[in-house]
Amino acid sequence: MANRVVLAYSGGLDTSVAVRWLIEEHGVEVIALCADVGQSGSDDGIRERALAAGAIEAEVVDCRDEFARDYVVPALRANARYEGTYPLVSALSRPIIVKHMVRAAREHNADAVAHGCTGKGNDQVRFEVSTRSLAPDLEVLAPVRTWGMTREESILYAYRHDIPITATKEKVYSIDDNLWGRAIECGEMEDPWAVPPPGVWELTVPTESEPRDLVVSFDEGVPVALDGEPLGMVGLIDRMNRIVGSFGWGRIDMVENRRVGIKSRETYECPAALALIMAHADLESITLERDLAREKSRLEPRYAELIYDGLWFSPLRQAFDAFIDESQRLVTGDVRLRLSPGRCEVTGRRSEFSLYDYGLATYDAADSFRHEDSAGFVRLWGLGLETWASKRVAHDGEIDPTTPAAELDGEEAMRP
Ligand code: ARG
Repeated sequence: MANRVVLAYSGGLDTSVAVRWLIEEHGVEVIALCADVGQSGSDDGIRERALAAGAIEAEVVDCRDEFARDYVVPALRANARYEGTYPLVSALSRPIIVKHMVRAAREHNADAVAHGCTGKGNDQVRFEVSTRSLAPDLEVLAPVRTWGMTREESILYAYRHDIPITATKEKVYSIDDNLWGRAIECGEMEDPWAVPPPGVWELTVPTESEPRDLVVSFDEGVPVALDGEPLGMVGLIDRMNRIVGSFGWGRIDMVENRRVGIKSRETYECPAALALIMAHADLESITLERDLAREKSRLEPRYAELIYDGLWFSPLRQAFDAFIDESQRLVTGDVRLRLSPGRCEVTGRRSEFSLYDYGLATYDAADSFRHEDSAGFVRLWGLGLETWASKRVAHDGEIDPTTPAAELDGEEAMRP
């Protein structure tokens, strides 16, 4: 049985009630830990709220730089999008939160950690698997999964125990946000056919009507400047969110496969993440050698999947990172994005390490390609097929390219 628990605290209804519930039901001391990964509202009175709910200690840790550098950058370099679409907003933030929970548990001599996730989602998987990977000795408590209270009952519980909350019964959406984007679930969107109501969008409200260009500069796969102005990762993502979002671009509406076997309708807005991945992948098109690019694009979906599935702190992720780091050495250069209402497109890319060779590619007078080399190359490339075809003709007669070999054999057999 645990004595002292570090709770991942968001300041919302569930985790505020969880503080008191853990004290009442488990007889533990609670230390509330709020990791600031760039979510909205992490600065307004959150410490005070945790203490008012009964926590003996409450920490707000600014993790934005660390989140950007150690979690977002590797995911961006891997062009990581779960099921080809979702840039892993929430999935990326869980491991860093756990890292800080484990650190706080050590500092405060706690023997357990707790999270406010339900039993139906991916986030419980990420919290628990990450905790076990870093600190197998710590107990993990999941009050929200255990207590079985409805939202109304939680609100009543808060009133009964004088826990300050801002929630109302009408809250319909489950929202999770950070630097890398924003996830909106539940409410009318639980019907996959229903159009998301316009009010759910915050980062992608269109306000701009005049198209503009935006040049993103990368250094070894890391974005370092916008329109030539050097920026740190946090500032750069922030500015990208505002600029790209103001064109109403960066929304995702999808049905995704949760780790726990449920198909779930999700909406996201991630203007910076989607635009940066687009630009980064484009820069790779001129800086990665062909076979390296092929191999990298094969492991990208696996990388995204393991982040989604809560396996950030795994030897496989570390091994992938070693490969990806190596692949990024020459991914340095600029990508021009053209923004217009509802659109974001790449209109140019350049790099001092570009493998695009004008002399080789051009059809004009500057052509430096040795045309005579092609004849022998093409002959050898097709040599195997040519040999096979001559045998087939000997066996089947003239080849009709529209007739599969099996049918040809059948006809042959029927011939007198
Ligand atoms: N489906 C997304 C994921 O699993 C988003 C989760 C958002 N979390 C939330 N509590 N609303 O990564």
